[in-house]
Amino acid sequence: MAVERNQLLEHIGLEITGMAGRDLVDREAADECQAALDRHGVVVYRDAHISDTDLVTFSRMLGEVVVPRAIDDGEFPEVATITSDPKRSKLAALRKGNFFWHIDGTHDELPQKGTLLAAHEVDPAGGDTEFATTYAAYQALPEAEKERIADLRVIHRFSRPMRLAFPDATPEQRAGWDTIPEREHPLVWRRRDGRRSLLIGVTADEIVGMDPDESRALLDHLDEWATQPQFTYRHQWRVGDLVIWDNTGMLHRALPFEPTSRRMLHRTTLVGDELVEA
Ligand code: OGA
Ligand code: MN
Repeated sequence: MAVERNQLLEHIGLEITGMAGRDLVDREAADECQAALDRHGVVVYRDAHISDTDLVTFSRMLGEVVVPRAIDDGEFPEVATITSDPKRSKLAALRKGNFFWHIDGTHDELPQKGTLLAAHEVDPAGGDTEFATTYAAYQALPEAEKERIADLRVIHRFSRPMRLAFPDATPEQRAGWDTIPEREHPLVWRRRDGRRSLLIGVTADEIVGMDPDESRALLDHLDEWATQPQFTYRHQWRVGDLVIWDNTGMLHRALPFEPTSRRMLHRTTLVGDELVEA
């Protein structure tokens, strides 16, 4: 099948058709994917129908693969099942946090380099995934705002999306979330290739040393700015799609779907390979 490449939007997204399954387990394909991630932020392989074996192998060609701490009982410890069905994943309830704009792993020293999601079952009534590029969003900020935020530092907490998703949580649940240490990062991530991205999203809880209301207003404003239509791509899933994003520059979120939905994605993530502070 002929391979076709189609740039989706000016600032974000490249779609590749005609590459499926084992076609991806190839050095050249992995190099093309990496270059496309650097340039377009999100790469969509339509009808890829990739098996877990090939997903893990392809992921390893893109970087070191995370082995999640709390794993589901699948064949590969690297592959997480993204579903809201607690019978299919022990972490199903926590996935409620995915409905907020976020970056994966912001409470880690190195946020993950990338994430791969392969669609096994989709929901025709909902559950699209949206992506927003903070590279383009940062670049488009007015100069005065770039100056205002240049040296600010931000504390990311895993507990913030959980508090929002579960307002009636018990003290025990809250204490459990709080065992995950918070992480302080610069708000503006100066990248080794000269670009800048923003460490924002729902886990960004407070700007260090700023009045709490002012801090909340600034973080909300930056999220709103970065998720304007010109910086975002909305992916409507089809079974067999493989979507990969540069997690160091993209915010993402799931759009609503019913908790009883069959929607199920298989996910691998890549260990961060760029220090936030060089
Ligand atoms: C994730 C995630 C979004 C979705 O797996 O990290 O945020 O649409 N998923 O399921
Ligand atoms: Mn995520």
